[in-house]
Amino acid sequence: MNKRIVILISGRGSNMQAIVERCAQEGWAADVVAVISNKPEASGLAWAAQQGIATAALNHKAFANREAFDAELAQEIDRHAPDVVVLAGFMRILTPSFVQHYQGRLLNIHPSLLPAFPGLHTHRKAIEAGCRVAGATVHFVTADLDHGPIVSQVVVPVSTTDDEDSLAARILVGEHRIYPQAVRWCVEGRLRIEGCRVHQLDGEAQCLML
Ligand code: GAR
Repeated sequence: MNKRIVILISGRGSNMQAIVERCAQEGWAADVVAVISNKPEASGLAWAAQQGIATAALNHKAFANREAFDAELAQEIDRHAPDVVVLAGFMRILTPSFVQHYQGRLLNIHPSLLPAFPGLHTHRKAIEAGCRVAGATVHFVTADLDHGPIVSQVVVPVSTTDDEDSLAARILVGEHRIYPQAVRWCVEGRLRIEGCRVHQLDGEAQCLML
């Protein structure tokens, strides 16, 4: 039976789109069964609906607190009985109990070479820090924001002419390569977590240099 993927977004959903497209093109034994957003206006929702994927919007502003929102979100996710839950530009801090519930099957992508620059404005921070390389990281989610066992990273050179937007655009190209690959590894059971380290069982490279 095909594995079931639920993707959470907050905005345009280009990583979600890359995952949906690669899943179809490469014929994974998996389906993206739902795309859920905390922002009703997220443009990625319309794209997903056009592909015939179930969509839902849960406006976090309508909830009294983080716990109440996360509890409802988990209910909505679990209606789809996911094997893997994928955060793709989902810009919410998650409660420890939510993270615990999906432990080992909750993936995130963050646009920095973690553990450098967790949080927001990562591209600006990398430029301001004088970094010569930047990138993005796919990791299993733990209760620590933007931390957790690293599945793969893409490394992108920072040029002296880069600004936040140009760097973000180049890193995004890399995100669209490593995130679908990491999700595929996860649904195919080709990852093993050992403490902080994640092993790709076929020995495929867990680092991409652009
Ligand atoms: C991506 O760059 C992703 O790495 C980042 O948000 C963007 C979403 O773009 N995620 C985070 O910053 C999470 N901390 P998308 O909606 O086009 O995929």
